Amino acid sequence: MSRIAYVNGRYSAHSRASVHIDDRAHTFADGVYEVILVVNRHMIDLEDHFRRLDRSLCELDIPRPMTGRVLTHIMNRTIHLNRVVDGIVYLQISRGAAPRNHVFDNASLTPGVVCTARRLDVPATSRDVSGVEVITLPDTRWTRVDIKSVSLLPNVLARTRAAGRGAYEAWLVDGEGFVTECAASNAWIVDSSGRLVTRPVADGILRGITRERLMTLARELSIEVVERPFSVAEAKQAREAFLTSTTSLVKAVSRIDETVVGNGHPGHVTCRLLDAYLDFARHQAGFPDGHSRVVLG
Ligand code: PDD
Repeated sequence: MSRIAYVNGRYSAHSRASVHIDDRAHTFADGVYEVILVVNRHMIDLEDHFRRLDRSLCELDIPRPMTGRVLTHIMNRTIHLNRVVDGIVYLQISRGAAPRNHVFDNASLTPGVVCTARRLDVPATSRDVSGVEVITLPDTRWTRVDIKSVSLLPNVLARTRAAGRGAYEAWLVDGEGFVTECAASNAWIVDSSGRLVTRPVADGILRGITRERLMTLARELSIEVVERPFSVAEAKQAREAFLTSTTSLVKAVSRIDETVVGNGHPGHVTCRLLDAYLDFARHQAGFPDGHSRVVLG
């Protein structure tokens, strides 16, 4: 089945879908995006994604191109046309197309909207997953990483370096040796008392939607969450480490650089949190028992 993409009012074959050569997302990375998890054809935590999207647009002074209702319709149609049951939707909004000039004039621009969807295997339970390796690299990004901008070159380079070393992700490290987040996910550890530790959002990270959801779920499970920076050295000694994102869900980290974390297998707390997240997502997607009725895409 060929994939279908939405671009500026039209649904067309993904392979032929295109934007204008002067689209500012292309020339200046002048745009924002969201990636939303789809479970059982249902977008998970959509309102939270819209809230973050609005904030990103507002911070960059890009006008919202259409209402949430219309955007929801476009995303649902894209999910449907691509026959995605479990997967992700990608939504990108650029400032629009104009002859290349650093200075923008919103009055003469129409924001560009792109939407794609693809399948993703959602595990049935934490028993189906294994841990991943990560490497640590200096965080060389700009200071506005709280904005979900398409300007991702340092992230792209970091993740590619990680892949080149056979690792799944890069954990980014600030000048003082503290982990900020990962190239495309948020970073967490479990300390010796079983508490979750993750960096505060005010401290140079993206407010991950999965991160926020996991905090709520952790509290429901009576797992204490401490928002504070942690160092690479502390992470290597941690009982457990994991990362969170829309595409990775809750992923156990079994090795940081050359150091094995814990016993090298997904830890008890990480597994509990992944199972809680899967149950939550299935419940929101309309499976009241929250059980493994998820059809893999
Ligand atoms: N990445 N931090 C960074 C730098 C990210 O790029 C992401 C998401 C996250 C986690 O955010 P969320 O839980 O809302 O997915 C944290 C997406 C998935 C991506 O770029 O593909």
